[in-house]
Amino acid sequence: MSTIKSVSKESRIFEPPAAFAQQARVSTREQYDALYRRSIDDPEGFWGDLASELHWFSKPTKIRQWDPPFAKWFEDGTTNLAYNCLDRHVAEGRGDRVALVWEGEPGETLTFTYAELSRQVQRFANGLLRAGVVEGDRVVIYMGMVPEAAIAMLACARIGAVHSVIFGGFAADAVRDRVLDAGATTILTQDGAWRRGKVVALKAQVDKALEQCPDVARTIVLRRTGNEITMKEGRDHEWTAVLEGVSDEHQAPALPAEHPLFILYTSGTTGKPKGVLHTTGGYMVGTYVTTKYVFDLRDDDVYWCTADVGWITGHSYIAYGPLTNGATVLMYEGAPNHPGLDRFWEIIAKHQVTIFYTAPTAIRAFIKWGDEHPSKHDLSSLRLLGTVGEPINPEAWMWYRRVIGGDRCPIIDTWWQTETGAIMMTPLPGAIPAKPGSCTLPFFGVSPKILREDGSEAETNEGGYLVIDQPWPSMLRTVWGNDERFRQGYFSRFPGKYFTGDGARRDEHGYFWVMGRVDDVVNVSGHRLGTAELESALVAHPTVAEAAVVARPDELTGQALVAFVTLKGGVTPSGELKKELADHVGNEIGKFARPASVRFADAVPKTRSGKIMRRLLAELAAGKEPAGDVTTLEDISVLAALRGDDE
Ligand code: WT7
Repeated sequence: MSTIKSVSKESRIFEPPAAFAQQARVSTREQYDALYRRSIDDPEGFWGDLASELHWFSKPTKIRQWDPPFAKWFEDGTTNLAYNCLDRHVAEGRGDRVALVWEGEPGETLTFTYAELSRQVQRFANGLLRAGVVEGDRVVIYMGMVPEAAIAMLACARIGAVHSVIFGGFAADAVRDRVLDAGATTILTQDGAWRRGKVVALKAQVDKALEQCPDVARTIVLRRTGNEITMKEGRDHEWTAVLEGVSDEHQAPALPAEHPLFILYTSGTTGKPKGVLHTTGGYMVGTYVTTKYVFDLRDDDVYWCTADVGWITGHSYIAYGPLTNGATVLMYEGAPNHPGLDRFWEIIAKHQVTIFYTAPTAIRAFIKWGDEHPSKHDLSSLRLLGTVGEPINPEAWMWYRRVIGGDRCPIIDTWWQTETGAIMMTPLPGAIPAKPGSCTLPFFGVSPKILREDGSEAETNEGGYLVIDQPWPSMLRTVWGNDERFRQGYFSRFPGKYFTGDGARRDEHGYFWVMGRVDDVVNVSGHRLGTAELESALVAHPTVAEAAVVARPDELTGQALVAFVTLKGGVTPSGELKKELADHVGNEIGKFARPASVRFADAVPKTRSGKIMRRLLAELAAGKEPAGDVTTLEDISVLAALRGDDE
């Protein structure tokens, strides 16, 4: 029976700080338990009640339908997500609250109140309609982190056009594939986007992509960087021209709850990108409720999620979740290391950020860059820290808590996926004690199980396949245009249950520990091991900033482990250190897990959203040339640098 063996020995526990718990929405474990119980025993009552905190043109009476793999939520209700993000707050007297604080990479700041943002979105909605966009059209948004990107998303949601945001780091081929798959009619883009002081020429990539996309009727181009671009007569429109003479009053239409809201292509560490489809009502309720309870927003919070709007994290936790909650959201255009390695900390101090949500890959980079950068700035405004995207190594978690959180802020380790739309497992910061590296307990309405290969449930601390066996409001509805791929990809391994693709275990306190993608599981001497725990052992060594562990074929043991290691700044690589690191893993975990080879690398290959691409490393470790799809790779030169340097 091929379960996954856990070798983690992490046992630290951090209680929610009393002062935080005192003013939290959910402030005790008992309160969480009671709410969770109800959400599982009476999902219709539970979600029906929460949905009614939002505005519906006609209130839903059918809360949930579940015909696996197809779910419908709030089906007979009609609503408008943009109305709920904007107009609702204005109508309820909160129009003067700051909705968006935007910091440009070159350093300028813009502020939008809810009333102002609402006007801008209504105006752009009218502009889109006048340009010929109609309800149901697919609109690609290929932009940088400018306010207009958020305005464009909200305007699409408002008129019922289906947006598909493509991360600005992708190039023409990736844009073309996504535009064709979505059948987009319209592309919203910029002349260029700022990145580390340089211009990323977005419009030029669009021009190239569109040579092979005959069905695109129009592009709308925002001028941001002022670089030269070509505008094709009849097809390409200036953003300003689209808005010229257009009214800033637009009445939000009542859209059915299951109206398609957006398609988002998964970042994917393997294979052809999948168009994950989310629909209006369920996604709205899911992101609203998770934001409210997980970030436990207060009126005076300044909330900053560092993701790009091109990822689901940006959709759910920069735009829709915080705005439905009436939060003040900070949005930053540029890179964390421009102009200096302290840019994030400078921004936190400047805008008095209280909630900060980022990714383990970023945290490991901060550690590598050194403590002197955050130490230069006053981070005392922070009250809550979050992480998402990968399992966080306990040592990185401890650093985050100590150096960024001043040992004062709770950390929420939020597990979820593009497909889940909203956070699925996380501590509630005022109620659930945290363990470094564990995403702790399921959010309301989420029913995770850990299964063995044969579908039976794994025992305590036995690693297995992480599935969700009940539908939840913000779940993906299908893979765009491909129900069969949806069924095959997510509901075939364990029929009727959603398979996440992740391995996990549940400990003696019922806490979940995600062990990484099951595709990355390595098999040494008969032990199937998740990569996360092996990498965490390496990152716990004082010289290591980041590690990626893969297996290569070995005559003796079947597979032997190869560790790619990035050292902290100032550490000198040496053969001795390689041996020390291999021994360290052997001592921490057991001899069988001692890497056969340690390779130092300045960087490891990552997806554009920061996930380590172990598949490529495994091919390199086996002495092969990395084959297959590398279009999601962030920096191709990283691969070249890794070739050759063995032992
Ligand atoms: C995969 C989903 C969800 C927004 C960003 C990523 C991994 C994500 C955690 C976490 C351990 C995590 C999983 C998951 N992952 N968060 N807190 N702990 N692993 O979205 O690109 O769809 O990736 O990211 O492997 O399946 P995504």
